[in-house]
Amino acid sequence: MPQTRDQIRDDIQRRFARIAQSPQKEQKFPCGPASAKRLGYNPDDIDALPAAVTESFAGVGNPLALGELRAGQTVLDLGSGAGFDSILAARQVGPTGQVIGIDFSAEMIDKARRNVMSLGITNTLFTQGEADALPVPDRSVDVLITNGVLNLCFNKPTVLAEAWRVLRPGGRLQMADILLEDQATPADVTRKGTWSD
Ligand SMILES: C[S@@+](CC[C@H](N)C(=O)[O-])C[C@H]1O[C@@H](n2cnc3c(N)ncnc32)[C@H](O)[C@@H]1O
Repeated sequence: MPQTRDQIRDDIQRRFARIAQSPQKEQKFPCGPASAKRLGYNPDDIDALPAAVTESFAGVGNPLALGELRAGQTVLDLGSGAGFDSILAARQVGPTGQVIGIDFSAEMIDKARRNVMSLGITNTLFTQGEADALPVPDRSVDVLITNGVLNLCFNKPTVLAEAWRVLRPGGRLQMADILLEDQATPADVTRKGTWSD
């Protein structure tokens, strides 16, 4: 019997709780520092970060490579996971800027908070929340970064409308994500699997 949306959502949440707590057990999808290096992050930046920051990296690209952040900007990291992109962004916007990380996984939010504390980073704020109802005021964000999250969301138009709502006029969306190509067959989809399986 096909799963309901609620069951799929619960499976996704459980999967990311596992990736926060036991990332080395993830067999199917590339995670961790080696994956980040393959996706084009600066290897020196990655090697300089503690394992607790890099081991649960589950991104699919590098949204920070899509545009430069400036000192003083407010950045929202949607689906911030264990805080990998948020930490790199926090360094770029500096003490006069701020990075807000939002994720629906309590385990990821806890890990991101522990990670920034261990690094002495004080310009981040991690909040548990949903991509389709961002707990962020209208027009308050300069750059919204997101890495591997929209593909996991049922209501993509609502998530994009939320991104539009929170961005300031002239703000920017920098997204890395995966797509299902038109010619993919159901057999291809089964072979590739999903984040929730
Ligand atoms: C593929 S991981 C990427 C995590 C992080 N961006 C990184 O690059 O390591 C996707 C993240 O999005 C979160 N997520 C998935 N669906 C979400 C939703 N509907 N609302 C908020 N967060 C969500 C997951 O808990 C997970 O931490």
